[in-house]
Amino acid sequence: MKRQNEKTEASGQKPDYNEIETRLSKLQNGRRFQHTLGVTYTACALAMRYGCDLDQARTAGLLHDCAKHYSGIELREIAYRKHINVSRFERDHTPLLHSKVGAYLARVDYGVTDLSILEAIRWHTTGKPDMTLLEKIIFTADYIEPNRDRAPHLPELRAMAFQDLDQCVCGILADTKNYLSKNPKAMDPMTLDALAYYQSHTGSGENNPTEKETV
Ligand SMILES: [Fe+2]
Ligand SMILES: [Fe+2]
Repeated sequence: MKRQNEKTEASGQKPDYNEIETRLSKLQNGRRFQHTLGVTYTACALAMRYGCDLDQARTAGLLHDCAKHYSGIELREIAYRKHINVSRFERDHTPLLHSKVGAYLARVDYGVTDLSILEAIRWHTTGKPDMTLLEKIIFTADYIEPNRDRAPHLPELRAMAFQDLDQCVCGILADTKNYLSKNPKAMDPMTLDALAYYQSHTGSGENNPTEKETV
């Protein structure tokens, strides 16, 4: 698999999506696999809208949760064995490690050598300040894909994603902060940094863009 994908990337050919999907369908339960497919085609739609490389969006979407079937303990063990840097916050909230470990597995098990894809997988959960277009697309697709039904403001965010991606990222981060405000210790500091950046960048200030939009 690794050799094959390195070869296809080098020659400009597409990754073997069928093979990646077949592998993931065996590792992920039905609901998670449907989420994976939902993120993939939402990422592709956003890539079409914003002129991002479709193969990068499709590959990152497919693989963004490739480590999520591991338990928190397993993720911590993989990170330890493979010398993946674990922050203090991640040590206490091990499921978050599926992003970092996922980027590692995408490279080692699925042969992805494109750093921009690996970084999009790496940051898909917390976001970060000043994300690339691909990173914003995967972060957003993960939140708005059609199988999601519990987050607030989903209709507004889904519309906003195709109108103003930065405002949508800001809205997702603001809703994540609100959701986690009941349990502030569960908030990764990177999410707060990302929110501060996108509030300033979009001129939203402390306002939640989704709420501003619906007033
Ligand atoms: Fe995830
Ligand atoms: Fe996901």
